[in-house]
This record gives sequence, structure tokens and C-alpha cells, in this order.
Amino acid sequence: MDDIALAVIGGTGVYKLAALDDVQTHEVQTRYGAPSGPVRIGRLDGRRVAFLARHGEGHSIPPHKVNYRANLAALKQLGATRVLALNTVGGIGDDFGPRVLACPDQLIDYTWGRISTLCEEEGSEVLHVDFGHPYTPALRAQVLAAARARGVAVHDGGCYGATQGPRLETIAEIARMRRDGCDLVGMTGMPEAGLARELGLDYACLAIVANWAAGCGDAAEITMDEVLANVAAASAGLPALVGELARG
Ligand code: HPA
Repeated sequence: MDDIALAVIGGTGVYKLAALDDVQTHEVQTRYGAPSGPVRIGRLDGRRVAFLARHGEGHSIPPHKVNYRANLAALKQLGATRVLALNTVGGIGDDFGPRVLACPDQLIDYTWGRISTLCEEEGSEVLHVDFGHPYTPALRAQVLAAARARGVAVHDGGCYGATQGPRLETIAEIARMRRDGCDLVGMTGMPEAGLARELGLDYACLAIVANWAAGCGDAAEITMDEVLANVAAASAGLPALVGELARG
């Protein structure tokens, strides 16, 4: 069978890749436990693409309870080497309003109490992976090239701030994140990116801006209806982008 050309992890509002043909379902177990749900492997533009819904297909797993290690280990066990993480986020920076797609190049981790490394078990190898560039530069370049090739507008760069959730942030918390240099805020960017690096996976984030973060833009109260409607609208170009990326 062909190799998996690309694995995609879907975030809030992206629970399947409808464009996949010939889908096979894999229930995987890993040494870290079970992933968030089945991995669906199908064909897109002639390539094998794997998809996993980070929060479960019915969105039953909150950000702090996601088994990030099992999710990534499952994709790796199935043969994936490149992972595109879709992350639904709030926009902080002026260029990052609702419905923008962005491929961040930096991140700051504000999460706590999550299992954030493979070096957890007694006796496991101690890893100090380089993380200066938290997203694999070559894969980022491929994401941006694929977007250009298919006419999908994607903002190049930005800093993703990963918060604990599941509640949204206060205005003061977002103001602090803005001072820190964050352009985007989401709840699932870490520990996923760090674990991908520990596992030796190429990993890039495509952030889908669903709302202005608290106190930014014309943000009023943030509702799930607004979030889901903006994710749906912003996701129109995803099949083309993912298909092109899988070919590259
Ligand atoms: N904050 C954190 N995570 C999010 C947001 C937000 O405003 N919107 C979507 N995910």
C-alpha cells in the first residue's frame, strides 16, 4: 500500500475531511493509550491522507483532556511522517480577524498540568529537543506553497499562544498575550507541537480564526455558534489545500 502522504488533525468544527474517498477506519492503540477516536485514511487527489478529530468526532474531549501523545503516536504508527494540525483560534493581532487562515511560525505555551513530553515514564530517555522553530520550517513552506497553488489565502507567520481553556480568556489575559507578542490564541497548540518534535514528526499548524479574542476587534460575547459558522466559512478552501499539500 502507498505511504500516508499527510496526516491531518482536525480541531473544533472540523470533525471529518468529506473530500476523502475510499475511506478505511483504523482503531489504533498506542503505548500512551487510545487516540481521540478512529483514524480515517482515504484518498485525496490520488494520495493517501489520514484524518483524526482531536476532540473526538462528536467533540466530547476538552482541550486539557486530549491524549496528545496517543494521537500523534497513532498517526506515526500508521506510517505518517508529516502532520498538518488544524487549530481553531481567536484572533489577537490586527491581521488575524475572523475567517482568516494563518500558518504561524512561533508559539508561546501558557498551558499547565498537561502531559507534555514523552519523557514521563520512569526510565524513559530524556529528550531535550530543539524547539526554536516550533513548526517544521520545510512543512510550513509546503503549506504556503500549496495554498498559493490553489488560490487559498493563508497568512504567513504569527505567534500562537496556547491557553489552558476550556473557558475563554479574560480581556486582561488577552492584553497580556498581545504584549507578549501573540497574534492568535487557542487551547490545543501545546503540547501537541512539542510532542510532534519529540516524536520526530514534521508538523505545521493551519490556524482557522473563528472570532476576535476577548477585547480585540469588535469582539462582543464569543458564542459557539459564531465560532462554528466562521470555521465552516473559512474551511471552504481546505480540501484543495490539503490535496495539494499531500501531493508535495
Ligand atoms: N480563545 C481561545 N481559544 C479559542 C478562541 C479564543 O478566543 N476561539 C477559538 N478557540
